[in-house]
Amino acid sequence: MTEPSRAPKFDFDFHGAALDSVFDDYDEMLRECPVSWSDRYGGFWTLSRYDDIHAAEHDWETFSVAPSMILPTFGTDRPLIPLDIDPPALTPYRQLLLPFFTATKMDALIPRTRQVARELLGDFEGQDIVDVSAFCRLLPAMVFGEYCGFPMDDAAQFDQWVEDIVFARTDDEAVARAAADDVYDYFRGLIAARRRDPGTDLISALLAADHAGQPLDDEEMLDISYLLFVAGLETTAGTIRAGLWYLGQHADELAAVAKDASLIPAATEEFLRVLSPVQAMARTLKRDVEIDNITMREGERVVLAFGAANRDPDHFACPHEVQLDRAPNRHISFGIGAHRCLGSNLARREVNTALQEFLGRFPRFELAEPAPWHGIGPLRIRLLP
Ligand code: HEM
Repeated sequence: MTEPSRAPKFDFDFHGAALDSVFDDYDEMLRECPVSWSDRYGGFWTLSRYDDIHAAEHDWETFSVAPSMILPTFGTDRPLIPLDIDPPALTPYRQLLLPFFTATKMDALIPRTRQVARELLGDFEGQDIVDVSAFCRLLPAMVFGEYCGFPMDDAAQFDQWVEDIVFARTDDEAVARAAADDVYDYFRGLIAARRRDPGTDLISALLAADHAGQPLDDEEMLDISYLLFVAGLETTAGTIRAGLWYLGQHADELAAVAKDASLIPAATEEFLRVLSPVQAMARTLKRDVEIDNITMREGERVVLAFGAANRDPDHFACPHEVQLDRAPNRHISFGIGAHRCLGSNLARREVNTALQEFLGRFPRFELAEPAPWHGIGPLRIRLLP
């Protein structure tokens, strides 16, 4: 058997502190080695060109999501549903879930999102410097948590679990595994309680729903609930953070969007393009594939670097420039194939509403100190008169 070539090498990483310089990496990868090998996380190929990622996303028979799209794992070896399920088994899960995330259903959550934003922003009134990181995280946690039926009395515990699973996993896998076990136990209890005593929330609705002619069993319910928990909160929080981080350093653009809230949806799309909280997702090869004379072998992992594709000069003019009114803006931050994000309608509405409310109340602000655009650390902002 021929040895895998695993060249050219590029030490690509898309987690933690590596995100500080990831956009320089993309620039270099797109110019020098659009297909490259990284030894991190057990080793993986990276695809960085928009067209290669587009093709891989549509060729699920070759680029499989099994065993998992998440690299490294979210602390569990169980397949997250529907994320880690290939077609055709994927289709009934998508058919089951999509009606709960339509634009119309998500429009109905806007008034509650606005109310939550106003409550949270009230705490900043009269202050000079505020840490907005809790605002960014609490807003989606409360809105989506309520929609799902996650008991909000446990919000502080959820926050810690998300931190351990999503953010600590690259430093200490054991922390993520312990948290994942706790979350699974927690959802076991919650699902049993909703079976006994259904409410008006998503978990109760899923328990009553029909999946290919049958109700979902407890194991499926667990893997769906776990995915919603890890996918639905931190991603939106990261986009709100990215927007405030950027606007806090660009007074003219802040003034423009604060004056005219109709500019915010396009700005949100540009934040999603240039500062997406999900920079990449993995696949596993079901057969050998050759791109640019590089052979990637069956069984090897391939990372689709959505963040690089979003800066591919063949698809975006002046890709590193942030243009808040960019049009068209066909970014692929929500994916582009069979697994396209189920929560995009919700995420867009939450981010737009959070920014509208923030800018409506505090139209002038600046970063009080340097902070990363990503992550969950403090983001201190000086509110200006
Ligand atoms: C700005 C926020 C968000 C971003 C950037 C984002 C991004 C993504 C990406 C990149 C994928 C995988 C697409 C692929 O590989 O083709 C995905 C899938 C998914 N997302 Fe999101 N997401 C966000 C918010 C949400 C929210 C709020 C929810 C809550 C419902 C959610 C639920 C899901 C689910 C269930 C999947 C799996 C879909 C499937 O496998 O068929 N996401 N998301």
